[in-house]
Amino acid sequence: MITRDYASDPNHRMFHQANLLKWNDGHGLRFTHDWFRFPGKFHPPLVEHILRSVKPSGVIDPMAGVGTVAVEAKAAGVPSLSIEIDPVSSFFIGVKTTPISRRTLEAAWKDLSDSLEYFRRTEKEIEIRKFRDIRVDLMRQGLSAVNATDLERLTYWFRRYVLLDYARIDHAIWNGGLPHRSKDVRRFFLACLFSSIRRISFADPSPVSGLEITKHMTDNIEDGYAIDVFAQFKRRVGLAIRRMDEYTTYLNKKGTTDTPSYTAQVDCLDLMKLAQPSGFEANLIFFSPPYCNAIEYWRRHRLEFFLSRFLDEHGVSALHRKSVGRTTSGRVVKEIPKLGYLPIDSP
Ligand SMILES: C[S@@+](CC[C@H](N)C(=O)[O-])C[C@H]1O[C@@H](n2cnc3c(N)ncnc32)[C@H](O)[C@@H]1O
Repeated sequence: MITRDYASDPNHRMFHQANLLKWNDGHGLRFTHDWFRFPGKFHPPLVEHILRSVKPSGVIDPMAGVGTVAVEAKAAGVPSLSIEIDPVSSFFIGVKTTPISRRTLEAAWKDLSDSLEYFRRTEKEIEIRKFRDIRVDLMRQGLSAVNATDLERLTYWFRRYVLLDYARIDHAIWNGGLPHRSKDVRRFFLACLFSSIRRISFADPSPVSGLEITKHMTDNIEDGYAIDVFAQFKRRVGLAIRRMDEYTTYLNKKGTTDTPSYTAQVDCLDLMKLAQPSGFEANLIFFSPPYCNAIEYWRRHRLEFFLSRFLDEHGVSALHRKSVGRTTSGRVVKEIPKLGYLPIDSP
């Protein structure tokens, strides 16, 4: 499967090129890259440059995060296989590499936003909600109407009305708000909703590691913290449609729209057990592991896991045990399996 050891080939031209500092930062914001805030991502121009220089026939990213390699690989016409253990990140890889036309998304957004209009809170109400939340019984009633009573346990992280608005948008995506739309279109809007979560919770959106309710946030909350779930969602939809349009237009122009991007939500230690997608051949492995335990991805995404119902509390502890870079005790890997790729296998 893997044929050439580029990393230890000093004559390969990728080692003689490019002053990395010349790359314009704005370049990292193109395509669908900045859809979901994710610390420790690859800088996209680096990935683009390496793919262009190496010209692999296929690429595997065994710790794919939110798919920077996959997005760039499709743009370059290189088939990719992304392996990622975190279900929220895997979900984003899939959405970010599935092109959908601006026309379809704008028409779908019109239907969805019309269906949400009835529930939308006015500016005046948002102002009142800064200090006065809705009653518990009203939240329960509302959550029950959209089959989301399980979300009540998250009130430590959210205002009650915020949980209710979130659940209503989620419900509309799957039930009536997007009539006759494909699963891909629904997943697109769900991704927009997920990417607004850190902006509507009490957790400070800036720290990279966990879900801290920092002093900065408690001060904000005491001073009256206005949270408009619909406005945040709309903002994310606007950004995502622009980015997806840029990506789709680029892929169409380059003729790479049909380049396969496979995603597997599994432990990378099981890479060699994974059934290879038919016709897929890779001669490059390209990845970045979690950096010295600095970012606990599994911990950081807990709100997304619970709101999406991708994982419950047991699922999160199982994910924690398998995550590379965990800071507390878990599975001990006594013998690292050989991957058949020299730079990784050699001690
Ligand atoms: C530094 S991030 C990769 C970021 C990625 N290069 C990007 O640009 O989005 C490391 C990733 O490794 C994933 N990871 C940790 N343990 C894993 C495991 N056992 N199997 C697969 N992925 C794992 C984490 O969930 C995290 O998303």
